[in-house]
Amino acid sequence: MEKYRIQGGNRLHGEVEISGAKNAAVAIIPAALMVDGICRIENLPQISDTVTLLHILESLGARVRMLNLSTVEVDCRRATWENADYDRMRKIRASYYFVGSMLGRFGVARTTMPGGCNFGVRPIDQHVKGMNALGADVEVTDFIDARVRGGGRLKGAYVYLDKVSVGATMNIMIAAALAEGRTVIENAAREPHIVDLANFLNSMGADIRGAGTDSIKVNGVEKLHGGTYAIIPDQIEAGTYMAATAACGGEVLVTNVIPKHLDCISAKLREMGVTVEEYPESVLVRSTGRLRKVNVKTLPYPGFPTDMQPQIGVAMSIAQGTSVITEGVYDNRYKYLNQLSKMGVRAQVDGRVAVIEGVDHLTGATVAACDLRAGAAMVIAGLCARGVTMVEDIFYIERGYQNLVEKFQALGADIRIVDEPEEPAQRTPAAG
Ligand code: UD1
Repeated sequence: MEKYRIQGGNRLHGEVEISGAKNAAVAIIPAALMVDGICRIENLPQISDTVTLLHILESLGARVRMLNLSTVEVDCRRATWENADYDRMRKIRASYYFVGSMLGRFGVARTTMPGGCNFGVRPIDQHVKGMNALGADVEVTDFIDARVRGGGRLKGAYVYLDKVSVGATMNIMIAAALAEGRTVIENAAREPHIVDLANFLNSMGADIRGAGTDSIKVNGVEKLHGGTYAIIPDQIEAGTYMAATAACGGEVLVTNVIPKHLDCISAKLREMGVTVEEYPESVLVRSTGRLRKVNVKTLPYPGFPTDMQPQIGVAMSIAQGTSVITEGVYDNRYKYLNQLSKMGVRAQVDGRVAVIEGVDHLTGATVAACDLRAGAAMVIAGLCARGVTMVEDIFYIERGYQNLVEKFQALGADIRIVDEPEEPAQRTPAAG
């Protein structure tokens, strides 16, 4: 199995370009199923989740053509809802967006239950509630089977979400785009990728207003037409390189970003003593000296993103003093701390709260990426630790980070992919 081998201790210097947003791309690809024309998607991140979703589209009969590494052309005019590649669907979380797009276009949907990272129970009741309100019956077994009651199109409705859910907000928005009449989604999530999905659908002829606020109005249209759309930069990928620079020290210009989307991350890093300068499409991160402790509570946007919690957790682990994380979105998102304890991270977890006592330095060890962002945190820990770190199960990381190894190498990090059965990582003498 391939692993990352990281010799820690190098400061990071240079420039890193951020790719398109994963969580926007993984909704836009399923939404493209509803487009009655050729849809060109630019700034598509080259990650395994987008590759999987494009394969699923092909299994439904779509024609998919990569025009270059980050531009895809998708033609779903002859696609259907039946006989998807269910094995692939089961592997990723975002396959639930096909429920919305199949129902919107065909009035009937069949997908598997979604996969994705395991942060405890991840129910889909709000998705189901939304589809029910729009007039579909939904049966959930190992599969999700949905059908418009009485046939025909979905009907616009008022949906009040009991919980602020990114996935449910986007799924209902997708389905409602082709429903008859007006849908109102209240208590909607406000993440940048929600605005991006709305902009994508609108550029194909949908009529969606209010995305980015907690009240989204969708006036259903009969058809979506083809067009070209460029995905926004990835907030979490940018934040990951910012946190890595904070932890390793150095100076990095993070380019192709929307600085406003990074406000919550920049603010926390500044509290830790890091300099973050904003430019129109980039941020400069400078970290010198020891980081200061900080407290973080993860919340839906514009709060601090739960998907940045493990990465900032690593920075806290080498800060001066004791930091506290309160996880406000998931029940169980601290598994990575068990792995990081092998590297000297001192943390105590009680339910949704983790108390992290800063240590002088981390030490290289063999750790396993237990999910996507946990894997990113382990890479950061390896980069700032003394000695060699081996990160296993890197397929999790490749789900969401384009060219992570090359990007860190360009910043001066000593990281590479190895394919050796065993490495004496624990016995390597400390360095740096
Ligand atoms: C999406 C992101 C994920 C991110 C999360 C929160 C994708 C593919 N994944 O996940 O990276 O961590 O947003 O920013 O975009 N919930 C319910 N019922 C539901 C739906 C959600 O109770 O029907 C709960 C969840 O268990 C969780 C909370 O609501 O506790 C937020 O989940 P949600 O925003 O829906 O996350 P995802 O869309 O799964």
